[in-house]
Amino acid sequence: MSAHDSKDKKFLTRLTHAGSKPDEYHGAVNVPPHRMSTIVFRTFAEFEKVPDVPFSYGRAGTPSSAAFEEAIADIEGAFRSVATCSGLSAILTALLAFAKAGDHILMTDNCYGPSRKTCEEILRRFGIDVEYYPPMIGAAIEKLFRPNTKLVFMEAPGSLTYEVQDVGAILAAAKKAGVRTAIDNSWATPLFFRPIEFGIDVSVMSATKYVAGHSDVMLGVVSATEEAFPAVKRAALMLGLCAGSEELYLGLRGLRTLHARMQQHQKNALDVAQFLSLQPQVKRVLHPALPSCPGHENWKKYYKGSSGTFGIILHETNREKLARLFDGMEIFNLGFSWGGFESLLFPEQPKPIRTAETWAEEGFSCRIHVGLEDVEDIKADLAAGLKRLG
Ligand SMILES: Cc1ncc(COP(=O)(O)O)c(C=O)c1O
Repeated sequence: MSAHDSKDKKFLTRLTHAGSKPDEYHGAVNVPPHRMSTIVFRTFAEFEKVPDVPFSYGRAGTPSSAAFEEAIADIEGAFRSVATCSGLSAILTALLAFAKAGDHILMTDNCYGPSRKTCEEILRRFGIDVEYYPPMIGAAIEKLFRPNTKLVFMEAPGSLTYEVQDVGAILAAAKKAGVRTAIDNSWATPLFFRPIEFGIDVSVMSATKYVAGHSDVMLGVVSATEEAFPAVKRAALMLGLCAGSEELYLGLRGLRTLHARMQQHQKNALDVAQFLSLQPQVKRVLHPALPSCPGHENWKKYYKGSSGTFGIILHETNREKLARLFDGMEIFNLGFSWGGFESLLFPEQPKPIRTAETWAEEGFSCRIHVGLEDVEDIKADLAAGLKRLG
């Protein structure tokens, strides 16, 4: 089936085949990695056609990036997508596509930490006014709009604290004010939420996470509507952001099994979250599909499922005891990422990071990524860890 044929097929069929071009690659199911910087033109007339040729120079696009971008745009319901070298660079692309010196942007207070750092250390330095808004602000975001507001950036659920924003109310207010919207959709992926179809201008994903899914790739992607895409593409090109051919190949390969993996991540994570919510050492479970998570109602309203990553707050804050918990884990390791096949823990405290409002929860916060191991083993590992707290 060619990518062209797949357009009218159902979502999972498109997820399985979009971007595949066996006719062009001797029957190969997967588009092979194209290692290209220089692309030569055999005649002056051919050279003169640039930029109206599919490929002119490696940084501007290759058959590897085209295949990955075509597949992502298809499942996002986007006009087009552009691949970048990491999720963070995809976020920077979305931010710089719409804001210039003197503009104001609204960034959710529970954004991914390095997104905030990028705002502070790059955007602010170049004269863009960044204001953080409380993630549960909903329709009241309209009070923050100024004549020079160019973008509202959302992340749902947010990093570490997992509040699920009222994306519908924020979008409606932004549309009314003529302000562009973007969202970090790495947690849900288009399987569980499709921002562009929902009406958001730009969807950003760290494809490093669930899309690639095997903890061996750094990759980002920005998808946009027809109206928003030219600015996004221009920003990625001018920032010099492009993804390596092996990474694009692995990203596209990961996409083929995304659905199967996400179903299992979802099942395992829900089981683990419910188990943890019954443990006396656990103060609160921040899983969007559980009522204990702020914005659970929004998750129910807008999302089709939940992935494998959520937060917990422990009563215990003593460092020695916490070290006993983490050091003795058998399945879980500590790591900065999530979305891979393996379970991971990430201890970090949101309180000092937040500025729009105080994160009032006392206790010790920890992100849990539930992998594809046997869920009974995962729960036993966590149960033993909690026991070590004493
Ligand atoms: C929510 C979120 N967005 C974006 C990123 C950045 O992705 P990358 O590590 O691919 O740059 C991360 C990384 O952890 C993340 O958690």
